[in-house]
Amino acid sequence: MKFTVLSLFPEAVRAALDFSLIKKSLTAGRIELNTVQIRDFSTDKHKTVDDSPYGGGEGMLMRADVLHRAWASVALEKGVAESSTDESSLGSTVSAAVHTVFLSPQGKPLTSEKARQLASFEHLVLVCGHYEGVDQRFIDLCVDEELSIGDYVLTGGELAAAVVVDAVSRFIPSVVQNLESVNRDSFEGGLLKYPQYTRPPVFESLPVPEVLLGGDHKKIEAWRKEQSLKVTQEKRPDLLKSD
Ligand code: ADE
Repeated sequence: MKFTVLSLFPEAVRAALDFSLIKKSLTAGRIELNTVQIRDFSTDKHKTVDDSPYGGGEGMLMRADVLHRAWASVALEKGVAESSTDESSLGSTVSAAVHTVFLSPQGKPLTSEKARQLASFEHLVLVCGHYEGVDQRFIDLCVDEELSIGDYVLTGGELAAAVVVDAVSRFIPSVVQNLESVNRDSFEGGLLKYPQYTRPPVFESLPVPEVLLGGDHKKIEAWRKEQSLKVTQEKRPDLLKSD
C-alpha cells in the first residue's frame, strides 16, 4: 500500500514515522511513503501558497489552485494530467484505487473501523492543511473525505497524517504479521483490551492474577472477556452504549 502526504512540512511527517514497526515496514517495502512539498506547486516568484479570505476574517487560507496542482501531480493518471489545461475538470480522472483524505478538525473521527476501511485502498493521498484553513473549492473538487484525529485543533495536519499512516498500516497483514494480536487490540469487537502481565510473577507485592498462571485456556479466555467488559465499563462507558 502506498501513502502520499501533501504538506508544507513533509519532513515532519517523515520524522514522526521514522521508528519502530513503521520504519521497518517502510524499509522492507511493505508500505510506501511519498511526500510532496505543496510549495513546489506555487507559480509566483515568492512561492506563495496562501492568501487572505474573501469576505474578511482572521488569518490566511491555503490556495485551491496551488493545492490542486500538488494533488493532481500524484492523484491523476499520467498523460491525462499533462495533456489537460482545464484544472477544474481534472478530478474525474482519478483511479478508483486512489482515495484522498483531508486532515481537519471538522472531519469524521478516525476510528479503528475507519482505519481498517482505509487499509483496503491501494493508494491513500493525505492532504495537510496549515494556517487558518484551505479554500473550500479544493475540498469540494479533490477530497473524498475529511478526517479528524480528535476534538482539538492542531497547528497543522502533519501529525494527524502520521497518525493515519500508523493506524492504517496496522491493518496491512504484512506490517503486523500477527493478525490475532491486531484482532485482540482495544476497539476490536467494540471493547477495550483486558489487562496484561509479564514477569516477574510478583511485583511490589502485586501478584499476577492466578488464572493466567494456571494454563487453562478456556478459563483465561473467559477471564479476558470479562476484564475487557469491566475495563470498558470503567474507562469508556460510551463504547457500550448502542445507538
Ligand atoms: N488539523 C488540525 N487539527 C486537526 C485534527 N484535530 N485532526 C486532524 N487534522 C487536524
